[in-house]
Amino acid sequence: MRTSQPKTIYLSEYRVPDFLVDHADLRFELFEDGARVHSSLSIRRNPEAHGQGSPLELNGDSLQLQSVHLDGRELAKDEYEDRSDLLVVPSVPDAFELRVVTWIEPQNNTRLEGLYKSSGMFCTQCEAEGFRCITFFPDRPDVMARFRTRIEADKAAYPVLLSNGNPVDSGELDNGRHFVTWEDPFPKPSYLFALVAGALVEKNDTFRTMSGREIDLRIYVEPRNADKTAHAMDSLKRSMRWDEETYGREYDLDIFMIVAVDDFNMGAMENKGLNIFNSSCVLARPESETDMAFQRIEAIVAHEYFHNWSGNRVTCRDWFQLSLKEGFTVFRDSQFSADMGSPTVKRIEDATLLRTAQFAEDAGPMAHPVRPASYMEISNFYTLTIYEKGNEVVRMIHTLLGPELFRKGSDLYFERHDGQAVTTDDFVRAMEDASGRDLSQFRLWYEQAGTPVLTVEDDYDEASQTYRLTVAQSIPDTPGQTGKKPQHIPFALGLLAANGTDIPLTLAGEHSAGVTTRVLELTEKSHTFEFTGIASRPVPSLLRNFSAPVRVNYPWTRDQLMFLMSHDSDGFNRWDAGQRLAVEVIRELSGHAEAEVDPRLVEASRTLLNDRDADQALVAKMLQLPTEAYLIELADKPDVQIIHHARERVVKVLATALREELLDCYRRQQPAEPYQVTPEDVASRSLRNMALSWLLHIGDEGALSLALGQFESATNMTDQAGALRALVNSPFEAERGRALEAFYQRWHQDPQVVEQWFSIQAASPVTGDLPSVRRLLEHEAFDWKNPNKIRSVVGAFAGQNLVHFHDQEGSGYRFLADTIRRLDDSNPQIAARLAAPLTRWRKFAPVYSEGMRKALESVRDKDGLSRDVYEIVHKSLA
Ligand code: ARG
Ligand code: ZN
Repeated sequence: MRTSQPKTIYLSEYRVPDFLVDHADLRFELFEDGARVHSSLSIRRNPEAHGQGSPLELNGDSLQLQSVHLDGRELAKDEYEDRSDLLVVPSVPDAFELRVVTWIEPQNNTRLEGLYKSSGMFCTQCEAEGFRCITFFPDRPDVMARFRTRIEADKAAYPVLLSNGNPVDSGELDNGRHFVTWEDPFPKPSYLFALVAGALVEKNDTFRTMSGREIDLRIYVEPRNADKTAHAMDSLKRSMRWDEETYGREYDLDIFMIVAVDDFNMGAMENKGLNIFNSSCVLARPESETDMAFQRIEAIVAHEYFHNWSGNRVTCRDWFQLSLKEGFTVFRDSQFSADMGSPTVKRIEDATLLRTAQFAEDAGPMAHPVRPASYMEISNFYTLTIYEKGNEVVRMIHTLLGPELFRKGSDLYFERHDGQAVTTDDFVRAMEDASGRDLSQFRLWYEQAGTPVLTVEDDYDEASQTYRLTVAQSIPDTPGQTGKKPQHIPFALGLLAANGTDIPLTLAGEHSAGVTTRVLELTEKSHTFEFTGIASRPVPSLLRNFSAPVRVNYPWTRDQLMFLMSHDSDGFNRWDAGQRLAVEVIRELSGHAEAEVDPRLVEASRTLLNDRDADQALVAKMLQLPTEAYLIELADKPDVQIIHHARERVVKVLATALREELLDCYRRQQPAEPYQVTPEDVASRSLRNMALSWLLHIGDEGALSLALGQFESATNMTDQAGALRALVNSPFEAERGRALEAFYQRWHQDPQVVEQWFSIQAASPVTGDLPSVRRLLEHEAFDWKNPNKIRSVVGAFAGQNLVHFHDQEGSGYRFLADTIRRLDDSNPQIAARLAAPLTRWRKFAPVYSEGMRKALESVRDKDGLSRDVYEIVHKSLA
């Protein structure tokens, strides 16, 4: 069987639906050997459709059709066509009731799309096109129906039966079975449908909304996780309050439910009134989850909750508009996280992810605009570009309009489009209409792929006291797009005087307004700005707070970078100057084994370690060296082994030179009990664990006993895992083995902790060689059916353990290709995601790219490739 080419779907071919569904009445009979789904749809022709008289077509996927009734009459086999992916009824009236019965097998559903089972419970994932795996339906987001759902199941095994909206009926049935009926008053697309049935415990709370309504909040988990819900519940209440205060958005149903499931392809899902979460994105307690997990959970709970307005009340017309809800909602959750913690640190984290991973995506074969023009498999477009670049695009509108006009724009958007399925263009138009600003050129951010590059040149004239800055923009070609037009870029900057203070910025011809950060708007290929009244040559602080998702080239000297690190009033650029300095120093060592590490980096790090007055959250970020992935992203034809060793050498030199300061930092940074996730305490733990890991890296015996002590006595997972990671990456072989063993013995019953244990090993240059990673796959706790386990071993190896993954013999690539082929049949979404590292093969030095290409070809040549993997490998090899 050769794989046939999947069809490409184009935005330009969008047509309004021929039929609309007003009501969807569903009845689920759940059994151990399958489920019978009775669907009763009230359907009518769409008055706005062109093809009046066209046949009814409903999407389906892996369904066994049992019967079709039209207005109460069973249709004969020749009155409809059951194609594998479509149910076609050629002749239907203008309005009718269609009843369809299908049989599905959730217990055998390994794709985790549609209705499936996860540790004994039934659950669903319908976005983007999973509803068609449940029953035949016009499975597109611009068809919005009112859903009523009756669930029937064995009462002992499935005491809890949930769906969207409010429970309206329940009762007992024969044979120990029972039922619950749910009704969702809000019309919604099928992708927001959800169902859960299981033996779950319920954690309750309430929230009083701004208009005084009392909302019943419930988190459902398996009994063993009953002590892990408090943080998510707190996060939920904070999110609800924040969305009222910041966007004026109030919750609209009487109940809000969250369910945790162990087997989940993505992070979480915003189903109306019934959010379903990957356990790792909702469950936490201090003893077993790290600070990072706590912060991630807060952000994801907020994200899914915020979707209730940006996604559910106003949804997407088609999947090309995915960023309409995702970019905007990521923007909202990042504003929320900034408000809950440290705004500068949040900005640094967002920019790091964007510059490391999204820039790489945007420079590779899968590059696509924030609003793509075509796709084969929509699941492949839940990307960093849609989410993170989409966030940046909304953020730039916020920057251009300012907070008040932006809020006017979002109010108008929600009011104008409530209950509708709309486009990114509708979003931009609401922003324009509310602000009076013209965003026509700005729309190119949605249409053109590729990361703009800003090249900045300057020149100072002492005689006229003027400083001239020339900024040129260019956007690289991407697959299918060349010769791009200049984009509208908000470019925030400041100028520093020799004493480190900000200079008031006055452009030629203006009166001084005394502002020291200005947002210049770039719209042309090149601009020259002339600042007057500048008494001496300034040091430019460019793209403050990362005001646009672009690369900036400017020839700062190392001394200027050191100067910005200690003086820039913009925290983000203080950090960025440090990153640039470190990148240069590491680069200089690359391939020059005997070159010296620039002592300025050592001194800058020493100053940071000793600076007790500085914001420790920022200090903790500034001391982190750029990751290998970021160094690779910045390099042209990178040699991974050389980059790895250069970076390692810098860590060793820093750790050796700063031993005293690091020990001192370790002793000083002891957050008080009880454990809290404040920016201060997180920074403290992060500094402490960084100090420990650097010292263990150079085999420091004193630090070894500190690490063992911390490992034994830690009362929170951040410190325990921090000690474990430091030991694992140390040369102390015996201690490393004992710690790994002890950790597993202590935590083997907690899958989330076991995932951390897997990923610490698989990501480690010390313990993550390929044979060891293969052994992890044989471990009793590993499970090929569980996406989190796959991510924690294979994902961590290929994504973080670059020195072993990029083994020059190609063994890491072949291993990943084998894994993708293996998973392609059982879970194509996960298989396709794992392929990402290989897709960038053209970027690397020839010793690597050859092997990567061969690995991709071996995936391409598999028989019966899924659409998901087909699209990724063929586009990458094209
Ligand atoms: N809408 C979800 C979120 O961002 C993501 C679900 C994507 N699921 C998928 N199978 N592609 O919150
Ligand atoms: Zn989302």
